[in-house]
Amino acid sequence: MSSPTTYHLVRPHVVTEIPTLDEHQQQVVDHAGGPLLVLAGPGTGKTTTLVEAIVRRIDDGAPPTRCWR
Ligand SMILES: Nc1ncnc2c1ncn2[C@@H]1O[C@H](COP(=O)(O)OP(=O)(O)O)[C@@H](O)[C@H]1O
Ligand SMILES: [Mg+2]
Repeated sequence: MSSPTTYHLVRPHVVTEIPTLDEHQQQVVDHAGGPLLVLAGPGTGKTTTLVEAIVRRIDDGAPPTRCWR
């Protein structure tokens, strides 16, 4: 029996920088609670904003497994 083909993937060294959010992204991050609807097209920074909103909540003490209060 032949041995299986294996691939060894290595994470490339990428330096990531914390984005400077624009005014609207920052308003989303600063939203204190309750329902919030964000309307935005592709490539406008929704995922970036969501990540920073989660970072903010974890920094504020929310458990990482439950960031939405
Ligand atoms: N405030 C920002 N400053 C610099 N680059 C940003 C900012 N917000 C988003 N980007 C960049 O714009 C691109 C699209 O952002 P992304 O969050 O993936 O958008 P969406 O989720 O709306 O498609 C990505 O390359 C992201 O890094
Ligand atoms: Mg996205």
